[in-house]
Amino acid sequence: MTEVNGAFLVVMFLWMFSPSTEAVADTQVSCVFMENCILPCSFQGDTDVVIYWTQVTAGNRLVHSYQPNKDKLTNQDQHFRGRTSLFKDQISRGNASLLLTGVEVQDQGRYECYTSTENGRNQSFINLLVDAPVGKVDLQQVENRITCSSEGIYPEPKLTWSTRPPSNVTFKNNTEVQQTEQLLYNISSSLILSHSDSDLSYICTISTRRNSRRATFKPRNSTGAIIGGVVVGAILVLLAVVFLVLWCRTK
Ligand SMILES: *[C@@H]1O[C@H](CO)[C@@H](O)[C@H](O)[C@H]1NC(C)=O
Ligand SMILES: *[C@@H]1O[C@H](CO)[C@@H](O)[C@H](O)[C@H]1NC(C)=O
Repeated sequence: MTEVNGAFLVVMFLWMFSPSTEAVADTQVSCVFMENCILPCSFQGDTDVVIYWTQVTAGNRLVHSYQPNKDKLTNQDQHFRGRTSLFKDQISRGNASLLLTGVEVQDQGRYECYTSTENGRNQSFINLLVDAPVGKVDLQQVENRITCSSEGIYPEPKLTWSTRPPSNVTFKNNTEVQQTEQLLYNISSSLILSHSDSDLSYICTISTRRNSRRATFKPRNSTGAIIGGVVVGAILVLLAVVFLVLWCRTK
């Protein structure tokens, strides 16, 4: 290790474990795309309550504000119009949590909850993460090409191919990722099957922060079909012989 690296590590160590940092770490809140989400915030006091929710990362956009006894939304950012509310019956109990409906990818980021009462002012921060989990994984075959795909995922997913049983087949990486207008990701990848690997099952796995899904493809096995055909043929011949013998005896 060089001296510079050593010094850097010592500084990092002091920084991470120093007890003097006043700032409380941001609360992480994970929200699901298009669903509702609660950003928690609490405060002390119950008179002259003022609440300001702002999205800090997007240049301090006003998300919601509350002046004594009522919402004040005249300066609310357009992006949040009609999508925010406070739990009015809970405010007197020190609950300034915000309900955000129909979560979008653009809602991701850092939020400040600022409160002021007769007891003083308070400030806390939320880091909102948006997830659109992997839904259906689709596998389709066209001639000797199989294509694996899934849509509407966030954040950007990873796609991997594997086989069962495990093999040393190498996969040419031709994965395509596209981003939709809603900033979600569509992903697809295709694979050319070779005849020598016809006994393998192909597994496509798509994963993102919140979940992972897979689909399995088993090529139609031509060897199996031939064996099946031979067995059925043999049984038919056997039956014919038995009938012939019986028929001859009855005569
Ligand atoms: C505030 O109220 C909401 C709605 O009842 C509840 O879900 C949330 O847990 C409360 N938060 C706090 C910090 O008490
Ligand atoms: C992503 O997939 C959806 C659903 O199939 C489709 O409507 C949309 O056009 C796709 N977007 C892009 C950018 O490929």
